[in-house]
Amino acid sequence: MAFTKAITVQEVPAGQGRQVTIKGKTLAVFNVGGTFYAIDDTCPHRAGSLWEGEVEGTEVACPLHGARFNLATGAHLCPPAQRGVQSYPVQVVGDEVQIDVP
Ligand code: FES
Repeated sequence: MAFTKAITVQEVPAGQGRQVTIKGKTLAVFNVGGTFYAIDDTCPHRAGSLWEGEVEGTEVACPLHGARFNLATGAHLCPPAQRGVQSYPVQVVGDEVQIDVP
């Protein structure tokens, strides 16, 4: 595994997401009560930006048409998305949120 610094802990308020780019991939990073998650930012339905979606528990709703995704696995939980997104391992070292992007 090769973790790369994505953002600092302070830059992602609890219950929110932020967009980061690592190795040319655009990811959405979320803070759920101090636990951080990373998934691909682009909704597979019509390319909504998931970091802007509403977070509820460990799910995010796409801001465009409301498809929901599991933050830990990237699995899609309801239409209109027909598939999930990639999820990525995250670790926190000091105040750095690091993501393992292959
Ligand atoms: S773009 Fe995400 S649900 Fe339509």
